[in-house]
Amino acid sequence: MTVALLISLRMSLTVSLLVLIFISGVVAQDGWAVHYNPKYICALNGSTVTMKCMYRYLVIDSSQNSFWSTIRSSDEDLLNDPYYRDRVQYHGDQQQSTLRLMNVTEKDQSTYHCRYKDDRFRGRYRDRGVDLSVTDLQVEVPERVIEGDKVTLTCKTTCSLTVQPTFTWYRNGRYLSSSTDQLHLQPVSRKDAGRYRCAVLGQDLRSPEVTLNVRYGPKSISVSISPSGKIVEGSSVTLTCSSDANPPVEYNWIKGTTIVGKGKTYTMKEISSVDSGQYKCRSSNEHGEKLSEALTLNVLYLQVEVPERVIEGDNVTLTCKTTCSLTVTPTFTWYRNGRSLSSSTDQLHLQPVSREDADRYRCGVLGLTSPEVILNVRYGPKSVSVSISPSGEIVEGSSVNLTCSSDANPPVQNYNWFKGTSLVGKGETYTMKKISSVDSGEYKCKSSNEHGVKYSTALSLDVLCECLCLCSPTGRILTLIKTIQSLEDHSHILLN
Ligand SMILES: *[C@@H]1O[C@H](CO)[C@@H](O)[C@H](O)[C@H]1NC(C)=O
Ligand SMILES: *[C@@H]1O[C@H](CO)[C@@H](O)[C@H](O)[C@H]1NC(C)=O
Ligand SMILES: *[C@@H]1O[C@H](CO)[C@@H](O)[C@H](O)[C@H]1NC(C)=O
Ligand SMILES: *[C@@H]1O[C@H](CO)[C@@H](O)[C@H](O)[C@H]1NC(C)=O
Repeated sequence: MTVALLISLRMSLTVSLLVLIFISGVVAQDGWAVHYNPKYICALNGSTVTMKCMYRYLVIDSSQNSFWSTIRSSDEDLLNDPYYRDRVQYHGDQQQSTLRLMNVTEKDQSTYHCRYKDDRFRGRYRDRGVDLSVTDLQVEVPERVIEGDKVTLTCKTTCSLTVQPTFTWYRNGRYLSSSTDQLHLQPVSRKDAGRYRCAVLGQDLRSPEVTLNVRYGPKSISVSISPSGKIVEGSSVTLTCSSDANPPVEYNWIKGTTIVGKGKTYTMKEISSVDSGQYKCRSSNEHGEKLSEALTLNVLYLQVEVPERVIEGDNVTLTCKTTCSLTVTPTFTWYRNGRSLSSSTDQLHLQPVSREDADRYRCGVLGLTSPEVILNVRYGPKSVSVSISPSGEIVEGSSVNLTCSSDANPPVQNYNWFKGTSLVGKGETYTMKKISSVDSGEYKCKSSNEHGVKYSTALSLDVLCECLCLCSPTGRILTLIKTIQSLEDHSHILLN
């Protein structure tokens, strides 16, 4: 296609030109020939861009007569548009015009044309113009990052920047490095986790922060115990497991080889010696599991240990037992019926033990005290005595109880009654009904338990008869008459 273009410009006569051009495919139809450099700009949000147009086939009379426009400014001079006015600067001469547009935003994305103020050219602007794209910065991180992966963070723009700038990288607000639009973390470690942003050196523009989440299995697991120090029977104890992992772990508690609990903490209320043992915590997430070192739990308790069977006269030793071996040899305290004794070792000697020693004992060490134990001292019967009921004169025909009492531990199981040397009865009480003078005599009680036998002193029983005694000259009893009233009726003569 051949185009003939005649452009006449109002200039001083000396520089007036007549240009006749024969060109094909270069000049816009019915347009004027301008050349843009660059033709496309990808600019960072907030930056300043410079567009340049060169008049190709003409020289304009004055730079004052050129201006820039866009559809957004309705093809009018940008300087007349309040939206642009403050951000626009023109520079130029008779062959070119430069537009400086400051603080560009996405709203400025458009095609910009350079124009000439001459009504003859209105409606004939068909040149390509300069396409402006404005981009922000965006850090792109892989969705799922596991420690050890090869990870690349990319500082993304929506258009490809005309000039390749130097990118700077920040982690958690701190400058990291200046490099390209890619940050390589190879291999990535959990220490790389954080908030990343990128920026362009020399520009105010910064990307929003993006969090890099690095997933990893449990590390550095540890178990702590509360309260620390000695653990006293009956108290409450909490074990706490902590491990570093992402995502968070599940915890299991293992005593020996058995799982005894779940969760970050494991609480034992009213702890007792059966809770002593080795505890471990296992933490696991989808990326691995880890077992803590064993924590040995010693439930400290004190107990007074006494021999099973203590018999009066034995040499007896009470021992203050602890469930764990104490690293230092501490001072023990012994208490008898609540009162402290002088003994300071873990043993209390009762040599020989007497029944007066049968008391309540407890021991103490390091601020702990044992429960009280009662010392049971066994002994055979002591101080056996016989009592008679009723007391006073005993008249023939009445009923009499003899009761035996004795001090013994365990209590006397067997009582035997003797009149003189012959066994007459058993049991604690010996009853004689309708007593008669033949029952007079000396009575003894024999009491016994497994530790011994003891006889009471003799009790002499005199049965008084309500009778008249006719005595022979020799002094022997000749007659026994029951009652005075029956003297006539019943008269017996007993001859001895
Ligand atoms: C571009 O920059 C302007 C001014 O700093 C800001 O208001 C706007 O949000 C930015 N655009 C984006 C998409 O961040
Ligand atoms: C460009 O932005 C900077 C900072 O955001 C501001 O100080 C300056 O006044 C702006 N310039 C124009 C011409 O709007
Ligand atoms: C009891 O201890 C005393 C002194 O410690 C000793 O003389 C005695 O032989 C011991 N008795 C017995 C039965 O061991
Ligand atoms: C003798 O003991 C029996 C049984 O314990 C009792 O019933 C009786 O009253 C006692 N007699 C006297 C005289 O104490």
